[in-house]
Amino acid sequence: MARRVGCATSRFTGETRTYGRKITTSAVWLCFCLLLPSAAEAGLYTASDQVVLLSPENVESVLINSTAAVFAEFYASWCGHCIAFSPIYTSLARDIKEWKPAVDLAAVDCAAEENRKVCTAYGIRAYPTIKFFHAYSKADSTGQAFKVSTHDVRVLRHKIIDKLDNHEEPWPPACPPLEPTSQAEIDSFFETNNVQHLALIFEDTKSYIGREVTLDLLQFENVAVRRVLSTEEGLVTKLGVTEFPSCYLYSPEGNFTRLQVNIEARTFYSYALQRLPGVARSGKPRPVTTDVLINNPQEPWKPFNRSRVYMADLESTLHYSLRVELAAHTVIKGEALTSLKKYISVLAKYFPGRPVVMNLLESLNSRLQTGDEISYKAFRETLDNTAQSPDTALPEGVRWVGCQGSQPHFRRYPCGVWTLFHVLTVQAKNARGTDPREVLSAMRSYVHSFFGCRACAEHFEIMASESLAEVNTLSSAVLWLWSRHNRVNNRLAGALSEDPNFRKIQWPSPEMCPACHSVKENGEHRWSQEQVFPFLMSYFSSSTILTDYLEDESQILAKQMEKHAGQQQALEAQERVARKAREALDPLASQSTVQDEEEEEEEEEEEEEEEEEGGEGAAADEMEDKTSETTPWAKPEMEVGRGRRQAHKKPSIVGLRMRELQEDIVDLDSFVNQHYKAKALQVAASSRVKQRTLQRKEEQDPGPVFGLDLDTGLGMVGLQPVEADFELDVGQQRKKRELAGQRFVETELSHGGRLMSVLSIGFSKVDISLCVILYFLSSMSLLVMCLFLKKRLRPRRGKLSLP
Ligand SMILES: Cc1cc2nc3c(=O)[nH]c(=O)nc-3n(C[C@H](O)[C@H](O)[C@H](O)COP(=O)(O)OP(=O)(O)OC[C@H]3O[C@@H](n4cnc5c(N)ncnc54)[C@H](O)[C@@H]3O)c2cc1C
Ligand SMILES: *[C@@H]1O[C@H](CO)[C@@H](O)[C@H](O)[C@H]1NC(C)=O
Ligand SMILES: *[C@@H]1O[C@H](CO)[C@@H](O)[C@H](O)[C@H]1NC(C)=O
Ligand SMILES: *[C@@H]1O[C@H](CO)[C@@H](O)[C@H](O)[C@H]1NC(C)=O
Repeated sequence: MARRVGCATSRFTGETRTYGRKITTSAVWLCFCLLLPSAAEAGLYTASDQVVLLSPENVESVLINSTAAVFAEFYASWCGHCIAFSPIYTSLARDIKEWKPAVDLAAVDCAAEENRKVCTAYGIRAYPTIKFFHAYSKADSTGQAFKVSTHDVRVLRHKIIDKLDNHEEPWPPACPPLEPTSQAEIDSFFETNNVQHLALIFEDTKSYIGREVTLDLLQFENVAVRRVLSTEEGLVTKLGVTEFPSCYLYSPEGNFTRLQVNIEARTFYSYALQRLPGVARSGKPRPVTTDVLINNPQEPWKPFNRSRVYMADLESTLHYSLRVELAAHTVIKGEALTSLKKYISVLAKYFPGRPVVMNLLESLNSRLQTGDEISYKAFRETLDNTAQSPDTALPEGVRWVGCQGSQPHFRRYPCGVWTLFHVLTVQAKNARGTDPREVLSAMRSYVHSFFGCRACAEHFEIMASESLAEVNTLSSAVLWLWSRHNRVNNRLAGALSEDPNFRKIQWPSPEMCPACHSVKENGEHRWSQEQVFPFLMSYFSSSTILTDYLEDESQILAKQMEKHAGQQQALEAQERVARKAREALDPLASQSTVQDEEEEEEEEEEEEEEEEEGGEGAAADEMEDKTSETTPWAKPEMEVGRGRRQAHKKPSIVGLRMRELQEDIVDLDSFVNQHYKAKALQVAASSRVKQRTLQRKEEQDPGPVFGLDLDTGLGMVGLQPVEADFELDVGQQRKKRELAGQRFVETELSHGGRLMSVLSIGFSKVDISLCVILYFLSSMSLLVMCLFLKKRLRPRRGKLSLP
């Protein structure tokens, strides 16, 4: 393992050299990227707000001939009043988010150059200006003035209702009737309406609750809401209503019951009505009954208490985050490494895990203390406890319990991430951490660097940059995350990612924590933070986390050990194979250098011929093949071993013969060439290729005369003995030449000899030896010819001499 780690780190040191340059380039990019959104999104609203951002491209489609009434704010991002009003406008948008199909909020930044035309076209002269565009506004409409004299969201909401109430024809189709109902209408209601529930809100003439709840439920099916004025005596008497406001459920059978709520206020009515049986968001799938979930054969449903936190979810989140999400990053360095360090450090400090898990988080934490970068591979080795530290493990795989979704694509990991960080903020508070923002900033950077849902990361970053700096106590950190999570819930209510069985609500629900909810004097809902805080502290406290469905510690350790043993075995097998390959090489290596060279020369050709010789090789490698079958990961190593082995296998006779023959032909050609040009040494000096072919010839027929160092025809080292031999041969040949009386050969040779000593490179000993043979042979044949001619001439002379 140490070797592998070392290998990994040394590989990265190579990259660090370019790192400095990368930093500067990425810094330039970062600045560039920061500038871009500031130019495009300099406005006071972002895409995460429930406000439609107007631009020259969409302004017509949003404001003109729309099915919903639209309020549009024309502002300038530099104007102080606009800046002060923007949080009011965004909370208003969040507050009436459910009304969207009937009435929507929009905004346009007139300070942006590109929007100037739009603002001029609508006659905007002062900022902020809010204009009301009724549904199906004409193309020439510039909207009605909507005076904003207050920063009270409730008052603004009421003014919007007034506008809707007085809406001229055509009425926005999605908007339910807002006028008070009468006994006559109620009597015939179920004849004309096919809904399961009719909610009657009894209230005073001035009250807006009835209309607010009506609009709050306009996206829900199977429920209708009507307001009944306290002056509607018939109904008030019939139902015995004494309290205003109050809400009654009227059934098709004609009976009625009072809706039970903690406080008689809009939020409570709306929440309760949205949760009536059979009531669901229109266009969304119906909630699945638990029977269906339990009978799912692929993933049996694990029953759980919806108001509890499960350790199984937290461990699953750690598994997914560390083994899946992080695995997407082969090398973690720079900002990402800082994020990872913060995340792991916070986990090691505050995660309320089992001892085995805590030991693992601790070892991860210390592993990350050193180094400018870490490969995921190296991180993973610590994560999987390759070092086999005792009682250290993170269970593998996910077992969602409280984060189960009714469909595989619902909830799970993101639910786990939220839960994990809520738990961590609470644990940090309990542990009296020193930095109030420690956990939140770790979450922020983790989400920024690694969270797979990039849109989520962007939205979270917007929230964090807006207000994370305001967190200055450990308690406010707990509350900050709770309130921002609720903001996300508000935005996502009714979104595609919402599990119909686990609807997004402002959490905790009135049933879960009745004391958390209260109302202001004006009847507006108010969170009692003094109640929410202890609720969160207890809900996410380590002492209340349930350990159901957790894998047994001993089982986790056994599994890890088994996995490790398997890996160890595989590693050993790999090493065995490598050793075998080495051993197969060793005896050959110890043999004579000549043979070694010979094999190396043959190797190339062997490889080329391997295919033809397949049958033979397969039989010889049967053993190795078996091993490679059981350990496929060892294949690359195996192949190297095989390659070496095959290279040293005795060449087939056929192959060898063929090759020898070929080389003989080639060599013969070169012999002839050299001989007839009579410039053998020059040719040899200029041709490396020929040297090689000549060498081969020598190799196959190594004789004592040519038993020179055949290593590299160009070697300086090999040159000395050649010259000695050469001198020797030259001496012998000179004698013969003298005998033959061939002058040209003699000069040539002596010339060549001098050449040899001058040009120490470019001549192989083989070349020289061959030249020597050539000269020897030619001198011999000349000698023979001379002797033959002499013999023949002598009798003639004799004859001639005979008188
Ligand atoms: C940082 C972050 C940003 C995200 N941004 C987006 C996004 O922009 N778009 C998107 O589609 N999805 C986003 N998601 C995913 C989304 O928020 C949900 O996590 C996901 O849809 C699963 O929802 P859920 O029903 O399991 O409940 P979750 O919202 O995941 O909540 C999990 C559990 O936490 C508890 N809980 C709920 N509200 C609160 C609260 N206010 N305080 C404390 N506990 C609470 C409940 O028990 C709930 O079951 C984001 C997730 C994260 C972690
Ligand atoms: C307005 O929209 C309706 C449908 O929503 C369409 O029938 C009508 O033609 C549109 N009118 C204009 C002027 O675009
Ligand atoms: C009306 O009565 C039926 C049976 O008597 C009961 O099941 C139903 O819940 C009642 N509805 C209301 C709204 O009280
Ligand atoms: C779920 O947990 C809550 C809070 O601890 C508890 O009051 C409730 O009884 C539990 N419900 C079930 C079904 O166990």
